[in-house]
Amino acid sequence: MEPLQEAAAAAAGGRKRRRRGGGRNRRKHQASSSSGAAASASPPSPPAKRQRGDDAAPKGRGSKPKPASLLDKMRARLSGGHFRMLNEKLYTCSGQDAFDYFTNEPDLFDVYHAGYREQMSHWPEQPVNVIINWLKSHSASWTVADFGCGNAAVSKNVKNKVFSIDLVSEDPSVIACDMAHTPLESSSVDVAIFCLSLMGTNYPSYIEEANRVLKPSGWLLIAEVRSRLDPNTAGADPDKFCEAISKLGFSLVSKDAKNKMFILFHFRKKEKSKVVKNIDWPQLKPCLYKRR
Ligand SMILES: C[S@@+](CC[C@H](N)C(=O)[O-])C[C@H]1O[C@@H](n2cnc3c(N)ncnc32)[C@H](O)[C@@H]1O
Repeated sequence: MEPLQEAAAAAAGGRKRRRRGGGRNRRKHQASSSSGAAASASPPSPPAKRQRGDDAAPKGRGSKPKPASLLDKMRARLSGGHFRMLNEKLYTCSGQDAFDYFTNEPDLFDVYHAGYREQMSHWPEQPVNVIINWLKSHSASWTVADFGCGNAAVSKNVKNKVFSIDLVSEDPSVIACDMAHTPLESSSVDVAIFCLSLMGTNYPSYIEEANRVLKPSGWLLIAEVRSRLDPNTAGADPDKFCEAISKLGFSLVSKDAKNKMFILFHFRKKEKSKVVKNIDWPQLKPCLYKRR
């Protein structure tokens, strides 16, 4: 079985299915549900349940791993497809729609992240690690907001106080909300991070929210999939992207394009910024994964 499929199958079928509203910490902050949005998001059929005995490989001395059964392979294929469908969903709907969708089906978050982890295992460098190392080389007293934190790797690996934000909260330290509207106080954080998380069609509103919560001179770190910001692959013009963020009140400090799979931008919020309306944000195309 391919690793993605194996991981996704484990997430989809190997866990006890959690019922709505139970078993998982789902704190909703300012996240009103729009009924229209919920209706427009048609959830996929629930992940296939794992049959008893699927994991029953003999544990005795000298036993060999059991080869994947046809049923395992079919289930895994279904889960791999599930991941790609969820990924496309996240890139093609608004943050509010995504929030409603995952709030209704929180188990799908595991399916998405199992597939995401497998995809990332093929990248030579993980952008989140580059960001973690950058944070470690700066003041541990800085407060950090990790927008679209996933498994909250940042907060687990630095000494800073970190507000971890995502659509679903699997651990109590993660704030579940649409990151266009967080419960964080204005001018309260020193560093705002978007690590591959500018997924929604309304991504500028996430950066506007980061601008609201950042202190003057605060840092804005954005890691994005390279192809989304490469005009040679139908991506957006990175200069236009940076220009839009500059108009919001940031200065570009560095653009690190040495990694094969992602670009990392460091911006700094200006001490005083005037409100500019009608910023021309470039559209960012979805990052779709091919079947391996
Ligand atoms: C590609 S994953 C990256 C996770 C993590 N930053 C990392 O680098 O490992 C993007 C994350 O952003 C989250 N996300 C996307 N749109 C969001 C939104 N509107 N509000 C909160 N989280 C969002 C997704 O749920 C997902 O966990």
